[in-house]
Amino acid sequence: MKIIIIVGARPNFVKAAPIVRALNKYRNQLKYLIVHTGQHYDDEMSKVFFEDLSLPTPDIHLGIGSGSHAEQTAMIMIELEKKILKMKPDLVMVLGDINSTMAGAVSAAKLCIPVAHVEAGLRSFDRNMPEEINRIVTDSISDYLFTTCEEANINLLKEGHPKNRIYFVGNFMIDTLLAIRKKAMSSKILSKLGLKGNRSVKPYGVLTLHRPSNVDDKKALRNILEAIKFISKEMSIIFPIHPRTKKQIDKYEFRHFLNYVPYEELSNSENSSTQKELSNRINCINPLGILDFSNLISNAKLVLTDSGGITEETTILKVPCLSLRDNTEREITIKEGTNMLVGNNKQRIIDGALKQLQKDYKELTAPKYWDGKAAERIVKVLLKIENEK
Ligand code: UD1
Repeated sequence: MKIIIIVGARPNFVKAAPIVRALNKYRNQLKYLIVHTGQHYDDEMSKVFFEDLSLPTPDIHLGIGSGSHAEQTAMIMIELEKKILKMKPDLVMVLGDINSTMAGAVSAAKLCIPVAHVEAGLRSFDRNMPEEINRIVTDSISDYLFTTCEEANINLLKEGHPKNRIYFVGNFMIDTLLAIRKKAMSSKILSKLGLKGNRSVKPYGVLTLHRPSNVDDKKALRNILEAIKFISKEMSIIFPIHPRTKKQIDKYEFRHFLNYVPYEELSNSENSSTQKELSNRINCINPLGILDFSNLISNAKLVLTDSGGITEETTILKVPCLSLRDNTEREITIKEGTNMLVGNNKQRIIDGALKQLQKDYKELTAPKYWDGKAAERIVKVLLKIENEK
């Protein structure tokens, strides 16, 4: 079986890594090529992830870059169609819910190439989210639907997808989280940020923001930053900033909320001026690679985010998490994890933070199949498909 794996942005790289590792064990039967659409292109949004995750250099790089949704999706499809026609794969695998996912699925399906969707069936039921459109379209034309949780299976069945197309294999993001744990623990990020003393780690929170509904809307962004500024009086907040968010903060002249920290230049934490500089501020740093980021959230008292994937990671790490969203496609992180929805209302964020800081999640057990073995399961399914051909 010849498989094309399409990746485009950070969360795709994280999910592809364990699959590629598992496929490598069956090279005789399952051959794969990696196509990078170039949706994320800055080194710190892409190259660092390939290095940290030991992902092989993509076989093909489409170099598409940014654009409106239609432009980006269309450009990926135009280039991808040519490559698929040339490479004649038996299967195209797409991951997650980004524009590259949908573009990959549509391009392949139109050429009658079977499509496998990794992380199928998640639904926020909010069609204002570009990702929700990507999920619905991708699932509707996929032949193999690989899911991370029971609720995804139920969503797909309710939409009329036949049971024999749905494969509950588990969570690939968690495969990676568990696989890199040891390496991530040796990251020096805490010392670089002055958060680690001789023996103890200073309490701190981590903020990530990139969703258009939060960062493109001036009022929403102001509410969030005001709330976080209030919380930062209690503990330092570290904010690895997404390029889109950085642009919006500059556009709305919100830089006064932030303390830009050139973290590479920080000496080890004993430096008291560093410690002083970090406290009581939203400390903004460049986007981090997965090893540094994983270490940072593992040791945090609280994570505030509008990402979906991070709510899965904090669930396994048992770190309290506030979702700066009104809904989630990952209800399981609320029911069985550490996640709480607070939207972008200032008071709800502050109240939510206070509540979460009182909670103790140590007794939680991991959701089913969030056990580091999802990639092994998917490869077994692929081998079965191959053998039944
Ligand atoms: C995309 C996904 C989102 C995912 C996120 C992970 C879609 C619709 N969105 O959002 O689901 O959670 O990736 O990070 O596919 N930019 C750079 N350098 C880069 C990449 C982006 O400067 O390497 C800037 C550009 O101004 C670009 C903007 O960020 O226009 C947004 O990038 P884009 O890939 O369109 O969406 P994300 O917000 O990253």
